[in-house]
Amino acid sequence: MSSVAITDIGSLVTNDSNIGDGALGIRTNTAIVVVDGKVAWIGDSDKVADADEKVSVSGKTVIPGFVDSHAHLVFAGDRSEEFSARMNGESYSAGGIKTTVAATRAASDEELRANTSRLVSELHKSGVTTFESKSGYALDVENEARSLRIAREFTNETTFLGAHVVPAEYANRSDDYVELVAGEMLHAAKSHAKWIDVFCDRGAFDVDQARTILRAGVEAGLQPRIHANQLANIGAVKLAVELDCASADHLSHLTDEDIDTLAGSNTVATLLPGAEFSTRSSYPDARRLFAARAAVALATDCSPGSSFTTSMAFCMAVAVRDMGFSPEQALLAATLGGAKALRRSDIGALSVGMRADFAVLNAPSYIHLSYRPGVDLVDSTWVGGKNVYQR
Ligand code: NIG
Ligand code: FE
Repeated sequence: MSSVAITDIGSLVTNDSNIGDGALGIRTNTAIVVVDGKVAWIGDSDKVADADEKVSVSGKTVIPGFVDSHAHLVFAGDRSEEFSARMNGESYSAGGIKTTVAATRAASDEELRANTSRLVSELHKSGVTTFESKSGYALDVENEARSLRIAREFTNETTFLGAHVVPAEYANRSDDYVELVAGEMLHAAKSHAKWIDVFCDRGAFDVDQARTILRAGVEAGLQPRIHANQLANIGAVKLAVELDCASADHLSHLTDEDIDTLAGSNTVATLLPGAEFSTRSSYPDARRLFAARAAVALATDCSPGSSFTTSMAFCMAVAVRDMGFSPEQALLAATLGGAKALRRSDIGALSVGMRADFAVLNAPSYIHLSYRPGVDLVDSTWVGGKNVYQR
């Protein structure tokens, strides 16, 4: 049994309204004791019991670690020129993915591993304690399985996204590619993946194709999630709920009916502010989702094409500024919301029994995450009570 006490927490966000104030369950002058990687005690700092190790955070803020439920971390190549062209007036389309596919197929395992590792370090530095990662930049049987195998070295939340776009060698034969993804490719990928995802959108896969692939994934033991309505509303939200997807992601185009459908379901609405930001697209209005009481998550969508950021704080700041989130809603969506989008009940909050995943902020309150855009406030990050990043 090993224990560590984190003491002198100026402001602790627990995300549990039973143990602190408001929806965020905020407590002041608090300590937490972690035993064997889980939160074992929360109370006043001056009453903390002995532990193997004591770490004073000298009045800083502690929040539950961010749960990034949507990222594309395994890839090679650079698309900064494409970003630059976009900022000069070109528009974003699904087709750019093919540039990354060529580079990813050509990369060695070591290169892909090193690229992924660099992004994982960035995520830890930004206070992320759990992250999901998709395949989807290889689009052939061998290399999709390889991408997932490498992703698994870093996270258990791995997602098979063979249906990202139709690769060039299947041009005008998208149904043949769907058959490959739902058959041989899924078979090669499934032991390295927990989830299956489809980019169901204009220029990618239609609703029927997405249904075929997601159903095949579920039959193979994977759980479904979906890229829905980023570029156009082609009916992906209805499909998400029909298949009980854990999450429908992007949702840049939403009808009132879509919102009611999500609100009456077990599917989390995951918004990705970095994608609208980096593609210079219109932001969805999250207030519509909150008004309908839909479950909402925020994630980075870290990917070379549409949102090359690992900063959850940046995403929160944009969500607050441009999507109608309050700072409180943004923090909940980036922590508890992400946990829900991964169907996890052991993370996303700091109450007794939860995994001791948290970030220490150089700030007097969590509000500074969106109040101080672009400023790196994370002082340290802890996963299961272990320090994975220290400034
Ligand atoms: O989630 N939308 C689809 N896929 C990724 C980005 C793809 C790319 O352009 O590389 C996303 O934004
Ligand atoms: Fe994505």
